[in-house]
Formats: sequence, structure tokens, C-alpha cells
Amino acid sequence: MSEIETIENEALGAVAAASDLAALDAVRVAELGKKGRISGLMKTLGSMSPEERQTMGPALNGLRNRVQEAVEARKAELEEAELEKRLQTERIDMTLPPRAIPEGRLHPVMQVFEEVAAIFGDMGFTVAEGPDIEDDWHNFTALNFPEGHPARETHDTFFFHPQQGAAPKVLRTHTSPVQVRVMETQKPPIRILVPGRVYRNDWDATHTPMFHQVEGLVIDKAIHMGHLKGCLIDFVKEFFEVANVEARFRPHFFPFTEPSAEMDVKYRKVGESIEIGEGDSWMEILGSGMVHPNVLSNCGIDPDEYQGFAFGMGIDRLAMLKYGMPDLRPYFEADAGWTRHYGFRPWLSPSVAGGLS
Ligand code: PHE
Repeated sequence: MSEIETIENEALGAVAAASDLAALDAVRVAELGKKGRISGLMKTLGSMSPEERQTMGPALNGLRNRVQEAVEARKAELEEAELEKRLQTERIDMTLPPRAIPEGRLHPVMQVFEEVAAIFGDMGFTVAEGPDIEDDWHNFTALNFPEGHPARETHDTFFFHPQQGAAPKVLRTHTSPVQVRVMETQKPPIRILVPGRVYRNDWDATHTPMFHQVEGLVIDKAIHMGHLKGCLIDFVKEFFEVANVEARFRPHFFPFTEPSAEMDVKYRKVGESIEIGEGDSWMEILGSGMVHPNVLSNCGIDPDEYQGFAFGMGIDRLAMLKYGMPDLRPYFEADAGWTRHYGFRPWLSPSVAGGLS
């Protein structure tokens, strides 16, 4: 057997025996690397006689090429095997539960939205929503705020730049425009609940320029103030999880309700915290009233046939009262420590039957 054949047999044997990519590379370096055995032989061509070179040249080239091809082929095989092994060992069972309890917490405002929706949901209300950017008609005019009426000024409205003669759009100052949107498009009976963000140009310890309201609207035949009172007293009892709530409806003014009333509930201070229901002081918690006939007409509903009541409440303060948070400002600071402390586990949906909080 010639020397070349011996080298070829050894080299191909070593390639076949290489059991991983590192071993294969070691073979490649030993044979074909700069200082490798076959490369060394190639270098001897220069010092050969022309006749010798004529036979040894092609023989050595052939040797180098066959060993090179064998290395490439083995490399592909080993890479394939390695991938297969990784796919086997790194397999993940997607049906297993996660190992750690997720870190995320539901913001108290979102929790209270869900609690309120659960309570009114039990009374047959469904949730409706509307846009944060409103036009003058829905935020004011349809709600019986005449143009230039001083009540418009009490809302500290954020206005957009006006566009081509049209009244400027606004960031809605309350959730009441959704009453209008629903009455314009749905026929009574109507029983809706509207959670949402609202905006007023106000900023101190108890006011933020964006805050949250929940609006309620009931329209049907023969709806009266007794329905409004019963519904809201039931709500307060469920929400604060107390058996008794002493409430009063104090006359007030809203352009879109007549008569209008603010609802106060009794409370007492116990140390730092507040107990709702009974006690020696009154606290205002929401605005309400019978929907004004002008509003019904503006929305295409005949006020001689239908009546209804509406209410609106600030959710941020209700959350503060229920969960004993002393300050409103951290609500909007996105401090993860605060959210972990005051936040709620997202999976525990509140329900009246299963518990609210
Ligand atoms: N929209 C009123 C406010 O923001 C609240 C309200 C709603 C009052 C519905 C009566 C009826 O102050």
C-alpha cells in the first residue's frame, strides 16, 4: 500500500471515529490545518522533479479533496445529531403550570371597577363604553348644558384646538356622554353601567387631571325616584359589605337630571380608618337624578312614554375609602412597591355570590 493510501485510510478512519464536533475539528487540524500531515505533504511538491510532480500532484490533490469532503460530510451528520439531541432534551411541556406565582397585580381602581360591575351586573346592568375624546354635543349640549351656561365652566374642561368652525373637541369631563351615545342608538328598556376615565384641569391632594367614574343609566316605563334610591342603597351595602347603610338624598343641581340629588352616607372614624354605614357624620359619595326630559328628547326618546334615572360616582375615592388608602397621588405614580402592596391578584374575579374582595 502506498504512503498516500495509508494516510487516506488513517485520515478517513479518524473522521468516521470522531464522535463530536470538537473531535472532528481536531482531526481536520491534524490533517488539513496549516501544520497538518496532508498540508505538509503538499508542501513537498515544490522540491520534486517535474516528472515526480506530475504523478504526485494529482494524487495529493485527490487525497486532500477526499479527506476534506469526508470532514464536511461528517460535520453535517454531527450537527444534525446535536440539534436532534437538543430538541429532545430541551423540550418544554406547555401544559405544565408556571413554577412561580405571576408578579402582576391589578390596580385597586380596576379591582373596584370589577366589583361595581359585579354588583350592578347582578341587578341586570350591562357594561357600555364610549370615547375619551368627545364632541361638544355629547359632553355638554345633548346633556342640556345650554351654550354659555355657567355649569360648563364648573367642569374645568380640557379643550382641543377647534377645527374649521366646529366646536372644539374635549377630553370628556364625565362619563355622562355615554348615556347619550347609548340612548341615541338603543331602544329602551336600557340598563347600562359605564366605567371610564374622565379629565378635568385640577391638581391637588384630592384631585388629579385624569380620574375614574362609573355612570349608571336606567330607562324604562314607570321608573321613579324610589327605584333610584333602592338601587343605590343596595349598591352601597354590597360594595362596603355592611348590613346597614344610613343614606340621605340631598337636593342638588345637574343640568341633565331633574330632580337631582347627591347621595350621602353615614360614617364614623375609627382611629385612622373609616367605617361606612353608620356613625355621626355624612359623606357625599355620588350624584344622581331622574333623567331630564330635554335629554331624552335630544336622544330621540319620547319623555311622555319613558323615564329613567342616572347616577355617576368617582371611583378613585370609593377605592380609597374601601381599601384604606390615605392618598390619591400614588395611584398614578406606577410604583411597583405600591401596586404590590395595594394591588389585587388578577385571577380572582369579584362576584356578589363568591365574594367581592
Ligand atoms: N356627571 C356628573 C358629574 O360628573 C355625575 C352625575 C351623573 C350626576 C349622572 C347625575 C346623574 O359630576
